[in-house]
This record gives sequence, C-alpha cells and structure tokens, in this order.
Amino acid sequence: MKGHLSTQLFWFLLFVQDTMGADELRLVNGSSRCAGRVEVKHQDQWGTVCDNDWDMADAEVVCKQLGCGSAVSAHAWAHFGEGSGPTWLILADCDGDESALWDCRHIGWGAANCSHIADTGVICSGLIKVRLVGGDTACSGRVEVKHEKVWETVSDSHLDFNTASVICNELGCGQAVATLGAAHFGEGHDLIWKEEFQCVGNESLLQKCPRMSHPNDTCSHANDVGILCSGYAGYRLANGSTGCSGRVELRHGGTWGTLCDSHWDLQAAHTLCQQLDCGFALSMPAGQLFGTGDGPVWNGTFGCERNESRLRDCPVTALGTTECPPGSEASVVCSGNETHLTLCDNYTSEATQAGIAEDVGVVCSGSRRIRLVNGTGRCAGRVEIYYNGSWGTVCDDFWDLSDSNVVCKQLGCGHAINATVSAHYGEGSGQIWLDDVNCSGNESDLWACPSRGWGQHNCRHKEDAGVLCSEFTDLRLVSDSDCAGRLEVFYNGTWGSVCYNGMPAVTATIVCKQLNCGDRGQLAGDFAYGEGSGPTWLDHVACSEQHSSIWQCPSDMWKQQSCNNRAEETHISCSGSQLLAPLSVTGPAHGVLLLAPQAGLCSHSQL
Ligand SMILES: *[C@@H]1O[C@H](CO)[C@@H](O)[C@H](O)[C@H]1NC(C)=O
Ligand SMILES: *[C@@H]1O[C@H](CO)[C@@H](O)[C@H](O)[C@H]1NC(C)=O
Ligand SMILES: *[C@@H]1O[C@H](CO)[C@@H](O)[C@H](O)[C@H]1NC(C)=O
Ligand SMILES: *[C@@H]1O[C@H](CO)[C@@H](O)[C@H](O)[C@H]1NC(C)=O
Repeated sequence: MKGHLSTQLFWFLLFVQDTMGADELRLVNGSSRCAGRVEVKHQDQWGTVCDNDWDMADAEVVCKQLGCGSAVSAHAWAHFGEGSGPTWLILADCDGDESALWDCRHIGWGAANCSHIADTGVICSGLIKVRLVGGDTACSGRVEVKHEKVWETVSDSHLDFNTASVICNELGCGQAVATLGAAHFGEGHDLIWKEEFQCVGNESLLQKCPRMSHPNDTCSHANDVGILCSGYAGYRLANGSTGCSGRVELRHGGTWGTLCDSHWDLQAAHTLCQQLDCGFALSMPAGQLFGTGDGPVWNGTFGCERNESRLRDCPVTALGTTECPPGSEASVVCSGNETHLTLCDNYTSEATQAGIAEDVGVVCSGSRRIRLVNGTGRCAGRVEIYYNGSWGTVCDDFWDLSDSNVVCKQLGCGHAINATVSAHYGEGSGQIWLDDVNCSGNESDLWACPSRGWGQHNCRHKEDAGVLCSEFTDLRLVSDSDCAGRLEVFYNGTWGSVCYNGMPAVTATIVCKQLNCGDRGQLAGDFAYGEGSGPTWLDHVACSEQHSSIWQCPSDMWKQQSCNNRAEETHISCSGSQLLAPLSVTGPAHGVLLLAPQAGLCSHSQL
C-alpha cells in the first residue's frame, strides 16, 4: 500500500515538474474560446502579446495552435480590452506555418515594456464540420454543421449556392446541383445555426468561408436547408488492359462505384474518353467484359450533347431517376493511342479522324453511327445511319417494334414505343442504307440485323422509318390557352401529370421559361384547368433557382401513379414579357398557391 502511494506521488511530482514553466496560449474576452485577446503563459504567469503590426499570418498561427480552424481576422490595439500582467511577446512576426506563436520571430520573452493599449486579438473560424443527413445518397441531405459539440441545422436564408458548392467539394461529392429549402430532407432537432455563410465558392473548406452573425433571426426547423451535390468527384476506367478502356467508375461521397449503363450512351462515353486523355470512344461493350466491381452501383444520367470536355459539364438529368437492373455496368473502349482496340468490324481510319462529337444522339460502332433526327429530342425521330462516309436513312418495309427496339437500346433510350413509317418524322435525303430490316430484338446494333445489305433497296425517302423510344420526354400545359394549364410530361409513350407535393414555387417559372411562355409563372391553386386522365408520372419535384430546365430537377422515380388524388395535380399560369395571350385578372381564376416558404422568409432582415 505504502509503495503504491509513493509511486503515485512520484508521477505527480514528475507531472508538476513537467508542466511547470510550460508555455500556454489562450484567447480571452471573446464570444468563444476561439476568439479574444491573445494571452500567453510563460514562467507560470499569464501575459499578453503586444504588437501594433499584428497581421493575418500571425493570427493564423494562433488559430491553428489552439485547434480553432483558420484565422478570420487579426486585431491590434486592445480590440478585446486591455490585459494585465507582463507583455510577454512583443512584435511577433510569423510566416504562418509555425506550430506555436513563440516560434515566430520576436524580440525575446518580456524583453521590453509595452503598453497594454497595443494588446493583440484574434477571431478564428473555429473547427467547423459539415455533414448531409436524410438524403438518399451520401451526397444529398439536410445540411448540419458542428462547431463545438452539437450538430446544428442551417436555415435556407443562411446558405446560398456558392456555399453549397464549397460543402459538396469538401465532402468529395462533386459539384453542387441545388440548394433545397423548407426542410426538404425533413426537419432537424436541437439547435439552429445563427450565422449566414458567405462563401465565394472557391474555398477548400466551409470553415474558411466568411460568416455573418444574425442573432435576432426568426428561423425554425421548417426552414432547414438541404443540398444536392452532383455526387461525382472522380472518374476512372477499371479492369481494362489499358487505362483507356474498362468499366466506368465514379467516386461519390468518397466511395468508388460503377456507373449503371441504363442511360450510358456514346456521347457521354466520348466525353469521358476525352476527359481521361484517351481520345474518343470506340464502343461500349455490354456483357460485363470488364467485371462487375465490388463497390456500389451509381445511377447517373449525363445528357452530354456536343463538345463537352468533361462529364461534369454535361447536363445531369435528375427527374424521375430509375432503378439499375442487375448486371448493367457501364463500360467504354476509348481509342487511346491503341486504335486496334476497336470492337467494331469494318473499322476504318476515317472514323478516327471524324471523331463522333459533331452529332447529337449519335452512336458509333467503328465507322458506323446511328441517330434520330427531327423528333425534338434525341430519343425520337427519323432513323439515320452513318456508313461509308455519309448519312442515310432506313426504309420502312417490314419495319416493326423489334427493329425499333434495337435502335432505342443502341441509343440508350430505353425500349421502343412506336415504329413509325411513311416518313412520319419527315423525309431524309441521300442514301437509303438499309431495307427489309428484320431484327430479332437482341442485336446490339441495327446493322447486325438481317436486311437486304448496305444500299440495297426498292424504296424512296417517303418511306423513311422512324422510332419513338420510351425515354423520349416532352412537356406541355394543357388548357384552351397557350401559356397556362395543367402541367403534363410525356414519358414512356404517354402524357401524364405532375403532382405538386413539396414543389417549390420557382418550378412554375422554370416551366414557363422552358415553354417560351415568358419569364415568370405561378402555381395556380384553383385547379381551373381540369383533371388529367393519364398516369400521375411524378411527385416531389424539387426545382430550385439554379435549374434552367425541369429535367434537371430532382424528383421521385417515374411511376404510373405517383399520387392518388387528382387534386394534387400541378396547374401553372405563366406571365411575363413574352406572354402571348393576356391573362384575365378579374375572376378568381389565378389565385396563387404558395407551396413552400420562399427563400428569405426567416432572413435576418426580418425582426
Ligand atoms: C477483370 O474482370 C474479370 C471478370 O470479372 C476478372 O476475371 C479479372 O480478374 C478482372 N481483372 C482485373 C485486372 O481485375
Ligand atoms: C501508348 O501510350 C503509352 C503511355 O502513354 C505508351 O507507353 C505506349 O508506348 C503508347 N503506345 C503506342 C503504340 O504509341
Ligand atoms: C424474319 O426472320 C424470321 C426468322 O428469324 C423469318 O421467319 C421471317 O420470315 C423473316 N421475315 C422477313 C420479312 O424476311
Ligand atoms: C413503361 O412501359 C412498359 C411497357 O411498355 C412497362 O413495362 C413499364 O413498366 C413502363 N414503365 C413505367 C415507369 O411505367
């Protein structure tokens, strides 16, 4: 027992000796331990730092040493009041990377007398952590930030798109797609963050952004903000023999996963090849040629159109995301510098030179390509094939759904809804490349199907074949007038309505602009345009100011019956500079239904 006590005493004495005289640093008189007058303990006595030339590099060292993040501001002249005791450090001059304030150049501990009127102070950012809660993926959800011990939610008036960009980047989640206010991802509990983030957008961490305090605000958890990040922060090709072919892997929220191929097309593949310095895309082999990968499967739709040099620059379609069927891994073989890698037969150097970037909705297989023309979208139109250096059409003799299915699949456009004949999408010109096409439906390219052979036909262009694929989408307002009505979307071959649950008011403006109906719109609350009869395709459409088209807005999946009640259908009336028919403003017909609080509702300007 005695021996045990003396051991304790020994360690205690050692501890005292060890801490005796150890120099310490603290901030006094500020709002938290990370702001205040700089004080230093030396020879067991607290004193101040005296410096009329105190700058951000000096402040940075203090913040880092205290584990308080980055310096926000440096203050001389007793900003936090005059201290007492010795002025230990005088004219500390730091480079910014010293690990302790006293490692900076200074004239010696207490080497001169200095008036406390020149006492220094610092405001540090504090260590701010951020996370996203309640979203479907690691890269979407309610924003929660932690300064000291508890996670706090942020109000939609206190976080803008630039700040969302910084958060997405910090979390390894690619680019910001949208900020979603009004507790889109559910309401948080506990505390609400009291400051407004004012990021420029290029800060590497949220804690480096300027913040402005708004202690008087009136926000509640109903204003909790969420963000949606593109999710993809890295791109690579896995399990190929060269770095220029393989399974497409994307990094999402810090994890590598394989891209689902249900919407993977050669336009996007081409962009990826270019981005990876691998030339252009030659083919997208199906059948798990490059394995399945161990990671998760990500579902993304990149609407690359032309000449984008990076996948992140391609518009991302988020509306009506779909499940990924098993065994659907996206892959690509890029030309790289090894052009013999092509899987296309009849490969010619001419395709190498032409590349495939010039045309919208084009798929290449070596020198052969296919596209749909004149159908207002890449997934519907007259079938055209590029062969032997020129574009030509396909004749409608025996043209049917099995043939059309091959075309739709080849273009990443789902399945065929309609095989059109008699130049339904207008007459083409030039060659008629194929006739009497007789696909079984399992072929990977239209030209792999039995036919009369290249250029062999008994047709004229008034017999040009066309296709309407299931992924063709369109938008309209249904009513007697042009720019007001029940909102309908075309998908899977059918017009259907859109439910308004959780729909922000800005959606109406986006739709009106997209339909060329002026630059303002309102969600109309009186259901003046009647009930629809088709599917109710979509619900929880979450558009925000950053979206220029409704197709970019995230939503629930496409479903025949997204909501049960026809009274949940969206009605929109447009107004604004390009309005065609004047709106009646007399009757009760254009009441405004505000479905979500507008941004700024709880902002600091409101007392
Ligand atoms: C590529 O995938 C195949 C099929 O899953 C597998 O047998 C092979 O080992 C993989 N190669 C590499 C380098 O991972
Ligand atoms: C292709 O590029 C790789 C790496 O850039 C190089 O090692 C290889 O020699 C090149 N092959 C040819 C045929 O130029
Ligand atoms: C299409 O092919 C099937 C066999 O796959 C055959 O029975 C049928 O006669 C063919 N049709 C034409 C028009 O050649
Ligand atoms: C689209 O239509 C096909 C039949 O043509 C059907 O099997 C599929 O379930 C439909 N998809 C949706 C989302 O309704």
